[in-house]
Amino acid sequence: MTDYLSFKTDLTNPEVADTVDDFPYWSSMFGQLLFRHLRLRPGLRALDIGCGTGFPLLELADRLGPSSEVFGVDAWDHAVARARLKARVRGNENVRVKLGDASELPFEDGYFDLIVSNLGLNNFEAPAKVMAECRRVCKPGARLALTTNLVGHMSEFYQTYEASLRATGLDHLVGKLQSHVDHRATQKGLHSLYEGAGFEITKFHTETFTLRYADGSAFLHAYLSRLGFLDGWRGVLENGDQEASVFRELESRLNQAAGESGEGLPLSIPAAYVEGRSPTS
Ligand SMILES: C[S@@+](CC[C@H](N)C(=O)[O-])C[C@H]1O[C@@H](n2cnc3c(N)ncnc32)[C@H](O)[C@@H]1O
Repeated sequence: MTDYLSFKTDLTNPEVADTVDDFPYWSSMFGQLLFRHLRLRPGLRALDIGCGTGFPLLELADRLGPSSEVFGVDAWDHAVARARLKARVRGNENVRVKLGDASELPFEDGYFDLIVSNLGLNNFEAPAKVMAECRRVCKPGARLALTTNLVGHMSEFYQTYEASLRATGLDHLVGKLQSHVDHRATQKGLHSLYEGAGFEITKFHTETFTLRYADGSAFLHAYLSRLGFLDGWRGVLENGDQEASVFRELESRLNQAAGESGEGLPLSIPAAYVEGRSPTS
């Protein structure tokens, strides 16, 4: 049942930003990682890049307390409106949310003590530019703490996707699938991004979460899959006919694996917390 292929992402619809508040499980797996490692102290000026509808921005504001000023930046206008609404209703008077591009941050040089970003990095078109901007707006000795999923993300799914391409006679698209898989962050790439922007890495922690679904049909229909990942998966294919046949094959293979395991469909999500410090002089 490939009806999920009729789903179209429409970020111009403000109601989509409202429904993104239903993603707390996905975002909070990474948010938990962030808050487990991030050292907190009062009186900071902090920034959350790619704060979406306000996570972890508002949680960070609560954890740092009213002696800190906490800014959020996101390029999605409806998400920014939603984050502003939440800050107002919650009474987070120390929070400001700006609409903007992280590769051209709307702040003066040397402004922040702390920058965080939860699941932002893989979504930025020009990550090296964003890192350079972070360095520019950091005070000397300021910290940049990112969480991200890594290459290896949902490897069980991608192996089945590759097998489905081969089974439907589309071996020539395997390279394109591999490029899509490889676009996610790697440990080596994170080191180069931090060091390339002049940050010294002070903490690097990795772990693997498991996201579990009843079967492939549940996973492919899930809102997180449709809104967060489906466009990338479909980008590997060339037309609607390929989509229908490959996704039918994929769904059936995932369902079969889930049935045989008796444990549903487990998906591995390798994740990293990386913290760096800008030079003190
Ligand atoms: C996967 S979402 C993460 C949102 C939130 N931090 C969370 O943990 O749920 C990535 C966010 O990055 C934003 N984004 C993508 N490119 C951006 C850019 N160049 N500048 C600012 N925000 C950007 C998107 O609009 C989206 O809200």
